[in-house]
Amino acid sequence: MIGGSKHLLGLDGYSAEDIIKVLDVAEGMKEISTRKIKKVPTLRGKTIINLFFEPSTRTRMSFEIAAKRLSADTVNISASASSTVKGETLIDTARNIESMVPDVVVIRHKFSGAPEMLSRYLDCSVVNAGDGSHQHPSQGLLDLFTIREKKGTINGLKVVIVGDITHSRVARSNIYGLSSLGAKVVVSGPMTMIPPEIEGLGAEVAPSVDEALMDADVIMMLRIQLERKSNSLIPSLREYARFFGLNLDRLKRAKEDVVVMHPGPINRGVEISSDVADGPYSVILDQVENGVAVRMAILYLLSGGGDEVVD
Ligand code: CP
Repeated sequence: MIGGSKHLLGLDGYSAEDIIKVLDVAEGMKEISTRKIKKVPTLRGKTIINLFFEPSTRTRMSFEIAAKRLSADTVNISASASSTVKGETLIDTARNIESMVPDVVVIRHKFSGAPEMLSRYLDCSVVNAGDGSHQHPSQGLLDLFTIREKKGTINGLKVVIVGDITHSRVARSNIYGLSSLGAKVVVSGPMTMIPPEIEGLGAEVAPSVDEALMDADVIMMLRIQLERKSNSLIPSLREYARFFGLNLDRLKRAKEDVVVMHPGPINRGVEISSDVADGPYSVILDQVENGVAVRMAILYLLSGGGDEVVD
């Protein structure tokens, strides 16, 4: 269970204590990946189904690796290889999957709310691996883990999120999680990409990226989501890069020990320049590494595990 729930659908409603418990378990899980034999028997006999209806590299692979490191059996299905292409509904697909008695279903879907709907029809745990523009809670948790690892704490930090907030499920999950843990969250980007309700979630809207970046402890750049028509909200990608992209010059406004994050995949030269993405402030690949540990913790806790990592 995480925060008293057998599902992980979003980070809204979770207390600081709930989130810290996941991060602490993930810390123990991270050590497993440093061993010569990167496998423990903790989830032996459990079945985890990865149901991906949208493309993914990081999330899908790290959920699969996480399950395998814990000795669970995994099955991966993508939209193009499933019977949804023959017209089967998501609910019918889910009910058929349920008949095979899985313990956890991890789902990514283009429609916001698809994982929540599935959770109402399935007895097993459901994990949201990204639903439309709604939430991406495992990404939020791995981002929180990475910030805590690099900064020692999250409470009191200024975290700046820049880009297409409207379409970003990563931004939403991070705003909820960061606010619970006491960070000050500032968002910035073209006004066409800042939804009016965002302040109600606990974020401040800065008038410009340059003002937002002043004294930032953490900068989180978001991808321009061409598949969700983000480019229809801006004049051109070139102008976006000039006014909102993170480059070395703009980075000087942040604190000297700033860390730069990006959930990936990155559009080099659009929201982030290569010298920043590959430079000393970037923790982008640490985020990917931590994704495995955090997803091991999520699968472990939802499959009935407690606070201790069983070896
Ligand atoms: N960050 C993230 O969700 O990446 P993928 O789309 O590759 O899973």
